Amino acid sequence: MSVIVLLGGPGAGKGTQAVGLAERLHVPHVASGDLFRAAVRDGTPIGLEAKAYMERGELVPDAITVRMLQARLGQPDAADGVVLDGFPRDRAQAKVLDEGLAEHGARVDRAISIEVPADELVRRLSGRWVCAEAGHVYHETAHPPRDAGRCDEDGSPLIQRADDKPDTIQARLALQLTSLSEVIEHYETAGVLTRVDGSSPIDDVTEAIHAAVRPGSLA
Ligand code: AP5
Repeated sequence: MSVIVLLGGPGAGKGTQAVGLAERLHVPHVASGDLFRAAVRDGTPIGLEAKAYMERGELVPDAITVRMLQARLGQPDAADGVVLDGFPRDRAQAKVLDEGLAEHGARVDRAISIEVPADELVRRLSGRWVCAEAGHVYHETAHPPRDAGRCDEDGSPLIQRADDKPDTIQARLALQLTSLSEVIEHYETAGVLTRVDGSSPIDDVTEAIHAAVRPGSLA
């Protein structure tokens, strides 16, 4: 079983990196933000509860988040491992994850902190476009689509996320970076943390992350 956690502030590049990493490891990519956005879109009870927190740039309360993640990680495709993107997001979530994995004789094998200065995070979120169909991620200068306004993968239109408005970006940074540093500390203490310079070009970040998960590098 291979359990990899990608950590980083809003816009650090977790989603950009998680897709290829999951393919490489033959495990699913589980992104808590994507699960919440799908729940909001589908109008499920979790989506109805989470929507207001997301719009304010706050973390959704742990009780809701943990319930959603436990359901997803209990599905058969996650039995051999997972790349987690956006979870855990605070110390309590990290402890719940440790306990859940321990019940299956597993643990987080590697936590990768993608480190990017706050002003660069703002630049990235302000220029981000995602495809309406599947959430494929682009940036207007760092990673533009081949055809303006259209996804390279599925041709669907590109849109801006509701929480990428300037006020919400500032709130996400102000409200979420402290709990992120607690999670980084949690994995540093556990001896499974790798820090990666996330301000490098996308391919260089990919190379650093893949090096951190090569057999022999895992805990
Ligand atoms: P979530 O969807 O997880 O948002 P986030 O953490 O703010 O992260 P993002 O998806 O915005 O950014 P990313 O790091 O994936 O960056 P990306 O690859 O897109 O969560 C949304 C909300 O849901 C939260 O605010 C919260 O309310 C709630 N939530 C989710 N999980 C929760 C939890 N566990 N507990 C409680 N609440 C939770 O890249 C960003 C941009 O930069 C893109 O345009 C990309 O093309 C570009 N880019 C990427 N890498 C590079 C690079 N190296 N150089 C230049 N540009 C780059």
